Amino acid sequence: FPMQMPELAKCSVLMRERSRVEETIHAMQRAGAGSLQVISDFDMTLTRFAHNGKRVPTTHNILDNRLLINEDCTRKMRELLNTYYPIEIDASRSAEEKLPLMVEWWTKVHELLIEQKIRRDMLAHAVKESSAMLRDGYKVFFECLAEHQVPLLIFSAGVGDVLEEVIRQNHVFHPNIHIISNYMDFDQTGVLQAFKGQLIHTFNKREGALSHAAGLRELQGRPNVVLMGDSLGDLTMADGVSEPQNVLTIGFLNDQVEERKESYINSFDVVLVKDETLDVPNAILRYIT
Ligand code: C5P
Ligand code: MG
Repeated sequence: FPMQMPELAKCSVLMRERSRVEETIHAMQRAGAGSLQVISDFDMTLTRFAHNGKRVPTTHNILDNRLLINEDCTRKMRELLNTYYPIEIDASRSAEEKLPLMVEWWTKVHELLIEQKIRRDMLAHAVKESSAMLRDGYKVFFECLAEHQVPLLIFSAGVGDVLEEVIRQNHVFHPNIHIISNYMDFDQTGVLQAFKGQLIHTFNKREGALSHAAGLRELQGRPNVVLMGDSLGDLTMADGVSEPQNVLTIGFLNDQVEERKESYINSFDVVLVKDETLDVPNAILRYIT
């Protein structure tokens, strides 16, 4: 790679069109940090997929803690995960086919969670006790964006309250961060009674982008976008950007690697195969800012 970015020369980094990636990064560098925004998915993108051979929990799975839910609920949530997660990542089904099934999954899980009368004041404890983990290099990532006042839009189909607590406990919740996610609605006594707003799942991020992200004042006038995700559904997260100039998409391919490699290479500009770090995004951001 001609741009002093050894990170991009590693064999875990796949690119359909290396020259286009180079040109895009150069154009972003010329325009500078003031023209840039970063839009990122949360679960399995900013957080690790696995650690020491064990899966790292998503924000939904962090809620699997006796402080919050009972054994019966744990069992039911696991059954749903075992049914629907393979569908979510199935390379042989289209997003259109998956969409109604994802709505089903999220709706059922949120109903189960509401039945558990989860207490707001227990969430921080559950996050502390969980094995939630941001990707290696997260400090550099968050600090770099904060320092250069580049807005970071975290766009997650997970649970917003849990996601916020994870970044807070890692001491990287800076003022440049904006979050679109599924937020819990608590009653006056602090007990979960519903989820707020339109449900966000893996394959309807486009609607959230158009209805929420497009209205965020801090993101206006920043036509260059670095987009990061681990699902093909994440590619629509930048659809709310009004007049995009340069968009670079980075996809983490964590699971079902061989089955999904081709579609990821055809869909993301940069594909990172089983990379548990933020080294590549960090190298690109260091160059641009
Ligand atoms: O932040 P992100 O948009 O990635 O969050 C959604 C992820 O959470 C999905 O990829 C899905 O696999 C996972 N999920 C889960 N349990 C649920 C619903 C979604 O682990 N009940
Ligand atoms: Mg994800």
